[in-house]
Amino acid sequence: MSMRGGIIVLLLLSFFTFFCKESTAQKITWSEHIAPVIHSNCTPCHRQGEGAPFSLVTYEDVAKRASFIKKVTQTRYMPPWMPDPHYVSFTNERKLTDEQIAMIADWADHKMPKGKSTGNDENNYVAGTRYNRKPDLVLSMKTAFHVEGDNTERFVVYKIPFELPDSTNVEAIEFITNNRKVVHHANFEVDAVPELDIYHTADYMEDAQSHVEYYEQYVPYRTNMIYFGGWVPGSSYESYPANMGWIMPKRGVVLLTVHYAPLAKPEDVINGVQFFFTKTPVKRHIQSISFGSGGVGEKQIDPYFYIPPGVVKSFKVKVATPTDQSLLYVWPHMHYLGKIFKAYAVTPSGDTIRLVSIPDWNFNWQEIYWFPKLMKIPAGTVVTIEGTYDNTADNPMNQSSPPATVYGAMRSKDEMLTLVVVSLPYEDGDEEINVGLKK
Ligand code: HEC
Repeated sequence: MSMRGGIIVLLLLSFFTFFCKESTAQKITWSEHIAPVIHSNCTPCHRQGEGAPFSLVTYEDVAKRASFIKKVTQTRYMPPWMPDPHYVSFTNERKLTDEQIAMIADWADHKMPKGKSTGNDENNYVAGTRYNRKPDLVLSMKTAFHVEGDNTERFVVYKIPFELPDSTNVEAIEFITNNRKVVHHANFEVDAVPELDIYHTADYMEDAQSHVEYYEQYVPYRTNMIYFGGWVPGSSYESYPANMGWIMPKRGVVLLTVHYAPLAKPEDVINGVQFFFTKTPVKRHIQSISFGSGGVGEKQIDPYFYIPPGVVKSFKVKVATPTDQSLLYVWPHMHYLGKIFKAYAVTPSGDTIRLVSIPDWNFNWQEIYWFPKLMKIPAGTVVTIEGTYDNTADNPMNQSSPPATVYGAMRSKDEMLTLVVVSLPYEDGDEEINVGLKK
C-alpha cells in the first residue's frame, strides 16, 4: 500500500470510528429503542397492581433507574425466565437478546436520551390486565376479605355466582387480585349450575387446617365443571387460538380457592377472575388436566411423598394418555424445596417428546408455558414428570430452620409435584397450528 493510500485508509477509519460513536450515542433513545423493549418485557409485571415493587412505564420511571436496569439485564436477573430454552423454547419466552441488553447499557451510559416521540414509546397496555384489551366480564368477590396478621396459612374458597344473557365463547381468562403479595396461589373452576340455588349458600368458606370438608356446601355445584385454571406467582392470562376455547355457561358459579401465605400484619384483598369473550364459535374444546399431586397419577406418590430433613429427594409420576392429544400449554408446580422440574413424554414407538425443563426451580417465578405450535401426544404415550427437592439447610428457600420433614400437601411448607396440561383432542394438521401470543 502506498503512503497516500495508507493515509486515506487512516482518515476513513477515524471518520468511521467518529461517525459510529456519534451515531450510537445519538441513535439509542427512549422513544425509538428503549421504550418498546421495556414495555413488552418489563411493564407486564412492573406496573401498578402487579407483583413488582415499582413501575417501569414512563420515561421517568425507567430513566431514574437506568443503571440498576442495566445491571439486572446484564446479569439476566430480569426479566425472570426459568425454563431451559435449549430443552424446549416456548412462545411466551421472556428473554432479552444480547443486542437489546447492549442497547440498554449504551442508553444508560449516554445520559438516557429521550428522543422524539415516534408513537412507539407509548405504553399501549390496558390497565388491569396483561391481555391486549379490556375484559368482557369481571367476576370478583363482593366484599374484601380480611386476612389476619396471625402468621397462619389459609385456604379460602369463594363462591362467585353468575347469570349471563347467554352462554358465551371464551377466548382468554385471567385471575385478578388487588393485592398480589398476599396470594400464594389460586385455583378456580367454572361450574355450570342451571337449576340449583346459587345465592343462598355461603359466600366463602375458610379453613386453616384442612382443605376438603368445607367444600361440602358447594359439592352440588361441582357436578358439571366446565373449566379449571389457576394462578401462581409470576403467571399471567391464558388465551386460545382461533376456533378453540371453551364455553362459559349461562348460569353457574366460579369457585375460587385462594391460598394465603402467613402474614405478620393484616391485609385486605379482593380476588376474582376475568373473561375475554369472542363471537368466533368454539369448534374445538379445550380442557385442563392436572398430573401428579391433586390430579391424575397422584397415587404413585401420595402415601410416600415425604422428604426427611437434610435430604435431597426425587419423585416421579408416569401417566399414559389413552387418546391422541394436542397440547397448548404446560404449567409445572412445586413449592420452596423444589430444585429441578422436568416433564417429557415417550411415545409407543420410543420417541421422546420434550415438554419442559426447569433446571433451577424458583418458587417466585412460575408460569404457564406456551408451545409454539400445538404439540401432538399420540395415544399410548407415557408422560413422565420428575421433581427434585432439596430439604437441606443449604437450600436458602427452605422454610424451616433447622430443616423438618416435609410431606406432600397443599400448604406452602408442604410440597407438590404437579403438571397442569391444557390440551384438546388431536386433529390432522394440528402440528402446524400456532399457539401464538395474541399481542
Ligand atoms: C414476571 C414479572 C417480571 C418481569 C417480566 C420483570 N420483572 Fe423486574 N421484578 C419483578 C419482581 C416481582 C421484582 C421484585 C422481586 C425481586 O427483586 O426478585 C423485580 C425486581 C426488579 C428490579 C429490582 C431488583 C433488586 O435487586 O431489587 C429491577 C431493577 C427490575 N426488576 C427491572 C426489570 C426490568 C428492566 C425488566 C425487563 C427487562 C423486568 N424487571 C421484568 C418482576 C418482573
